[in-house]
Amino acid sequence: MTKTIATQPFDDQKPGTSGLRKKVPVFQQPHYVENFVQSIFDALEGFEGETLVLGGDGRYYNREVIQKVIAMAAANGFGRLIVGQEGILSTPAASHIIRKYKAFGGIILSASHNPGGPQGDFGIKYNVGNGGPAPEKVTDAIYQRSKAITRYKIADIAAVDIDTVATLDVAGMTVDVIDPVADYAQMMEGLFDFDAIRKLFKSGFRMRFDAMHAVTGPYAKEIFEHRLGAPDHTARNYHPLPDFGGHHPDPNLVNAKPLYDEMMGPDAPDFGAASDGDGDRNLIIGRGIFITPSDSLAMLAANAHLAPGYSDGLKGIARSMPTSGAADRVAEKLGIGMYETPTGWKFFGNLLDAGMVTICGEESAGTGSNHVREKDGLWAVLLWLNILAVRGESVKEIARKHWEIYGRNYYTRHDYEEVDATRANRMIEELRAKLPSLAGTTVRGMKIERADDFSYHDPVDGSVSEHQGIRIFFEGGARLVLRLSGTGTSGATVRLYVERYEVATGRHDLETQAALADLIAAADDIAGIRAHTGRDRPSVIT
Ligand code: G1P
Ligand code: ZN
Repeated sequence: MTKTIATQPFDDQKPGTSGLRKKVPVFQQPHYVENFVQSIFDALEGFEGETLVLGGDGRYYNREVIQKVIAMAAANGFGRLIVGQEGILSTPAASHIIRKYKAFGGIILSASHNPGGPQGDFGIKYNVGNGGPAPEKVTDAIYQRSKAITRYKIADIAAVDIDTVATLDVAGMTVDVIDPVADYAQMMEGLFDFDAIRKLFKSGFRMRFDAMHAVTGPYAKEIFEHRLGAPDHTARNYHPLPDFGGHHPDPNLVNAKPLYDEMMGPDAPDFGAASDGDGDRNLIIGRGIFITPSDSLAMLAANAHLAPGYSDGLKGIARSMPTSGAADRVAEKLGIGMYETPTGWKFFGNLLDAGMVTICGEESAGTGSNHVREKDGLWAVLLWLNILAVRGESVKEIARKHWEIYGRNYYTRHDYEEVDATRANRMIEELRAKLPSLAGTTVRGMKIERADDFSYHDPVDGSVSEHQGIRIFFEGGARLVLRLSGTGTSGATVRLYVERYEVATGRHDLETQAALADLIAAADDIAGIRAHTGRDRPSVIT
């Protein structure tokens, strides 16, 4: 039986680039989840009898929300709901399932790399039929609806058993509880040379994968250990936990420090990797060498043809604006298109759908391709493994040779987290006002060529996105970028991105922070970061 429950709007249900993200206690308020889910359904048209995909990263409150969404999807008239067993689906796997089963859309429960647990973060995101995050016009409609909502519909049913793979009838809707890994693993087998990777492991190649107690654990166990024959214990922290073991499931050099230390140590394995809360990010470390996500994108693009799924070559490459220009040099050499988009994976969707690009990446550890419409952590790890297997060289050798061909883009990102939002905004405004006068001036002996506030003209739908980050270009290819994070849940996060290009014949073995020290100092001279934030150093350096 369907119940219609009277409700009132909450004033804070505006979905950001990655859906609605708030602290768990906010989601636990009565009607909060229901209001938002009903707002999603109300903003959509034509889903009667259609399929909805549902899953999450297993964080605290995942199971409760899964039950609510099932009951509401049934009451709102979906014909079929596909849910991952135990409520689990990594974000890229959810994207794949939406596409594979031609679903109307999907609801993904995740706050990505943000901490979980009773006081941690939770999130609800809607993805459309191409498998990608809902475009702004859909998220706007959801938000508008959430401000006017007066009722929601929910089936009056007992909790559905989501722990057993089965097909059930739930209040007239078919519920398929599926193995969350199988379809995804099968797709990966189609893209990569599993035989070659199997041989690599057989030859004694050692890998360490840190699932950070998040969603990729079961995927990594199945793919690396069961299908590719990597030894037991290749995957570490592979039990997904509701609070990620109390850790921050963000695979950067701070949160994945134990992996980094192991990879730099005397008995380092050949290859180390990690993924985040919902499985869309990746960290790549070779023995004795960290590969920045920007470099990883470039190296993957340069070698992708070695994997069966990309043997015809790439159509084009896209990167977010703050990502380094390393991939641009690969695109140039391959004679293919290169697109620079604002921060956020959703901007790649149109380019992928239009067949203009094959590979995309962001400096924030997101890499992916046209196989799904989300970034994909394990995909990046598998492409690296495929390349390592075919080339028979170490990560270090591959990186060194890459830089000898293309030159090296030294690159770092400095984050100032939980800064007072008013002060952070003031800093950006002051800098924006200063932009026209910067060109032609010299800072610490470096001449500024031009400075602007990045705006993006989508070549597919013609839309324009303004104020996407401040860019300061120096002579010789160095660049500073400053922007505020759009994903934080408390205060503002200031991100400073620093890049300098060293030619192919130059030195490629400098320590990154040292190689960029002048530019980092120049950034503070220009923007007054320390004065504005009241911090004398960044909270995180990657
Ligand atoms: C961050 C990253 C961005 C990524 C997003 C979602 O956004 O910088 O590249 O797409 O998370 O994972 P930001 O907090 O910088 O707005
Ligand atoms: Zn994520």
